[in-house]
Amino acid sequence: MRLPFFQSGCKCTLVILIFVPMQKNFSQLLIKKYQEIKRNLPWRETSDPYKIWLSEVILQQTRVAQGLPYYYDFINRFETVTQLAEAPEDEVLRLWQGLGYYSRARNMHATAKEVVQKCEGVFPSTYEKLISLKGIGDYTASAIASFSMGEPVAVVDGNVIRVLSRLYEINQPADSSAGKKMFKSLAEELLDTRNSGLHNQAMMELGALICKPKNPVCEECPFSHSCMAFSNNSQTLFPVKKVKKPLKDRFLVFTVIEHNQKIWVQKRDNTEIWKGLYQFPLIEFSEHTEEAELLKKITDTYGIRSADIHAVEPEIKHILSHQRLFVRIVHVKADVLQQLKGFTTVEISELSNLAFPIILAKYIQRKFY
Ligand code: ADE
Repeated sequence: MRLPFFQSGCKCTLVILIFVPMQKNFSQLLIKKYQEIKRNLPWRETSDPYKIWLSEVILQQTRVAQGLPYYYDFINRFETVTQLAEAPEDEVLRLWQGLGYYSRARNMHATAKEVVQKCEGVFPSTYEKLISLKGIGDYTASAIASFSMGEPVAVVDGNVIRVLSRLYEINQPADSSAGKKMFKSLAEELLDTRNSGLHNQAMMELGALICKPKNPVCEECPFSHSCMAFSNNSQTLFPVKKVKKPLKDRFLVFTVIEHNQKIWVQKRDNTEIWKGLYQFPLIEFSEHTEEAELLKKITDTYGIRSADIHAVEPEIKHILSHQRLFVRIVHVKADVLQQLKGFTTVEISELSNLAFPIILAKYIQRKFY
């Protein structure tokens, strides 16, 4: 099987339609390889669309090994979508803690509520119904519908994009609107519509285990002899990425103010990063600041004596999708303290019940437990 030359970057899907049907046994070879290499994963043992949805939301955020304990925690705590919908947001965020990108957890919670309202708590399993929900996009709807019902819709995730972009040396970035259409229609053309769930899982597994980002194991790939990137030794050039805007740098200083065995905390509002999570009093600087200047700002702002500064943590660098955070944490043990407006106190022993951004949660574990 030799794929014909496919003019990558071409906007015309007709080209795909003409060439891809030549891959008649593509799906057979793909599924055979899948049976050899596949990992046994709990969401592959169920056809419950709710559980598949949970796994997909978690796996959009993290790798399989890290995602597994979260998957078990969520399905054990919320056996049904109704239980999830009825849970307080704080509890959902607390279970999500460590996965980052908390807007995903909030969207997931909102989708659960929407399912309860619109679908009487029965999680939909058809693409059409799933895509009509606000929090579910093409990838998740295709995954749920094909894995749970065998609906013939193609899944396109990062793994699938990598496989296709290398097979055909596609120069179009997958996150451009032309790229999205191109990858979706190519994946649809290759899909075995009688076996869509298995085919989709197999494509994703091929991308995850063989057509890997850095060291692809091409000698084990059933398609290497027809892969354009393999024949040109250009695997690592694909998939092509859009040129990214530089990340914005931010300099955050959290002050952990301990007073009478209690700590001052504040719930972040619903704007900006870390929506709805808890934090310690925060001062943001516009640039890297010397420690002496930073401590002076803290003592002035919170009415603290410099003798009360107990420890200053080394700076932590934390990368988010659009920002680079430089975070410092200063621990203060104050004997007297004026009321801090907008903050409340919690017992040190209660801190672990609140959802904090992961940097602060790790600090809390390290310092107080
Ligand atoms: N990554 C995203 N979805 C997945 C799935 N269903 N199985 C394995 N890895 C995945």
